Amino acid sequence: MSTEKKTPTRRITAPQIAARKGGQPIVSLTSYHAHTAAIVERHCDFILVGDSVGMVMHGMENTTGVTLELMILHGQAVVRGTSRALIVVDMPFGSYEESPQIAFRNATRIMKETQCGAVKLEGGAPMAATIRFLVDRGVPVMGHIGLTPQSTHVMGGFKTQGRDAATWDAHVADAVAVADAGAFAVVVEGVVEPLAVRITEAVPVPTIGIGASAQCDGQILVLEDMLGLNPWVPRFVKVYGDLGPMIERAVEGYAGEVRDRSFPGEAQTYT
Ligand code: KIV
Repeated sequence: MSTEKKTPTRRITAPQIAARKGGQPIVSLTSYHAHTAAIVERHCDFILVGDSVGMVMHGMENTTGVTLELMILHGQAVVRGTSRALIVVDMPFGSYEESPQIAFRNATRIMKETQCGAVKLEGGAPMAATIRFLVDRGVPVMGHIGLTPQSTHVMGGFKTQGRDAATWDAHVADAVAVADAGAFAVVVEGVVEPLAVRITEAVPVPTIGIGASAQCDGQILVLEDMLGLNPWVPRFVKVYGDLGPMIERAVEGYAGEVRDRSFPGEAQTYT
């Protein structure tokens, strides 16, 4: 047996993200897959294994069908593919709303089975007691307010929040409740810019915007959206890479070469 000591890998921690309030913008993307996560972590502070995986990778219409097992499977892949970034895994719909105790059981299952560094759950003031229960028992929690996709059936679709200024106080109160309960950061999704400013000013932890303007303390996008792999591009997404046509060309090239028998060639053949 080797006696050589290995230096333990140091991942970014939830408190380190929390400490970046108001500082250099926090960069984040989603990832569901070991190899893409390895690329993403070279440029990001944290990676979210989001429940958008259900829509992006499994063709679901919304995120309500995502299970704990699915989140764990993708969480494991992303943790295996990375060594430095904080990995945050989404708690899926139905796995935390019923009671703080059930939320704790499921959050600790996610952490034990994936070895991720934090979980994220959706909801404002009504989820504050659950967030407090988890944080007090050793589970770092990222909040998620504004447009909360797991509530799509209640909201009547994926609707930008805060178009009516009369709703702003409630959204700010949600953010404050989540932060007061101990969340180390809050995702603010799909809100108008002046509301994002109000929320960001109101909480002592970083706000991570998605469709919430440049006024947040950090940004997150769904990787496949910014790589051009989603046929429907929401307005808040900027497409940084057009992978769809690249994949199409590669698959077309392969199919043609199989059909004309030029693949496999000599280089790919065991003689
Ligand atoms: O599941 C997800 O991808 C998310 C982001 C939209 C923040 O929660």
